[in-house]
Amino acid sequence: MAPPPPEPPDDQVLLPCFKEMELSQERRDFISSLPIEKSWTTRGYLHNYQGFWFLTMGMQGVLAFQKHFQAHDTDVLLTSSPKAGTTWSKAMLFALLNRVRHPSPQGHPLVTNNPHTLVLTMELTLYYRNQVPDLTFFPTPRLFATHLPYAVLPASAKDSACKIVYVCRNPKDTFVSLWLFVNRAWSTRSIIGSLDEAFDMFARGVSPFGPYWDHVLGYWKKSQENPQKVLFLKYEDMKKQPTSNLRRLADFVGCPFSPEEEAKGIVNDISTLCSFDNLKNQEVNKNGKGMFSEANEAYFRRGEIGDCVNYLTEEMIEKLDRITDEKFHGSGLKF
Ligand code: A3P
Repeated sequence: MAPPPPEPPDDQVLLPCFKEMELSQERRDFISSLPIEKSWTTRGYLHNYQGFWFLTMGMQGVLAFQKHFQAHDTDVLLTSSPKAGTTWSKAMLFALLNRVRHPSPQGHPLVTNNPHTLVLTMELTLYYRNQVPDLTFFPTPRLFATHLPYAVLPASAKDSACKIVYVCRNPKDTFVSLWLFVNRAWSTRSIIGSLDEAFDMFARGVSPFGPYWDHVLGYWKKSQENPQKVLFLKYEDMKKQPTSNLRRLADFVGCPFSPEEEAKGIVNDISTLCSFDNLKNQEVNKNGKGMFSEANEAYFRRGEIGDCVNYLTEEMIEKLDRITDEKFHGSGLKF
C-alpha cells in the first residue's frame, strides 16, 4: 500500500526549530526545499538530504560537518546508526587508542565520563551550530564519531587514508532500542507518536540517518571493496566474542596488542572496562546528563541481542525480516 501523502509542515513546529538553530534565511530556504516527514523521535521534522533523513535540529551540523571537516590520514572515524552500539564502540576505541596514557581502570576517563563526551559525534557537537571548529588540540590519532551515511560523509573522510570503523546491529533491535531511548532519555518531553506509527515510518525508511538498511549497505559495500579503509562490525558479534572483536579493532586502527600486553591480560581488562555492566554502573552514567539534557542512563538500557521480541508483534518482526532479506539480497550481508 502506498504511504499516505505527507502533510505540509506545521510552521508552529518548524519555525521555532529554525530560530533555535539560528538558521540563516538561505539555510531555511534550502532545508524547506527538501522532502519532509514528521519526526517520530523528537519534535520537528525529518528532511531528506542526499537520499537520507536528518532531523531539523541536526541539519546544520550535518551540512557543516560534510562541508568543512578535513580528515587526516591518521584519523579514526567511528560510524554507526543511532542505537547500533555507538556508546560501546566509542568506549572500546577510546580505551584502545589511549591505553598507554591510561593503562589502569582505576581513575580511567571512562569511569568518570560518559563515552559520548570522550568521543564526540561531530554533527551533533562540534559542528552542531554550523561552526568550523578548531580541531588542532586533538591528539594524534584523532578519534571522532558520526552517524552520517557513507554517501554523505565529508569528501576528505572518503579520500584520505583515515580509518573508518562501522558498527551495525540487526534492524529490529536497533528500532526498539531507538524507540525506547527517545521515550526514556527525555521522559518529560515525550511528544512522539505511538510505537505502531514509529514502526511504520522506520519500515518505510524514515528514521534519523535512515533508511536504516541503506545506511548499513553503504558501509558494507565499501568494507567489501576496501577492507583496509572500512572495518564492518556487528553488535551481535561483539556481544558474542568481545575480546576477539577488540583485537580486530586494535589491528585495524594500527595499534595491535603486543605479546606482552596479551600476557598481562590487557585485552580482558579493556573488555571489562567497556562492558555493559561496568559502564552502566558508573555514577556518571547512572545520574549524569548529556549535551541535549538526555539522561545518560538511557544509553545503557539492557544491552541484549533479540530484546525486540518483547516489544514487537510477530507480524512486525516478519515485516522487518522481509524488508531486510529484500534489501540485503545479493549483498552477502546477513543478520
Ligand atoms: P538496548 O536499548 O537494546 O539496551 P547506541 O550506543 O548506539 O546509542 O546504542 C545503545 C544500545 O547499546 C542500547 O541497547 C544499550 O543498552 C547498548 N549498550 C550500551 N553500552 C553497551 C555496552 N557497553 N555493551 C553492550 N551494549 C551496550
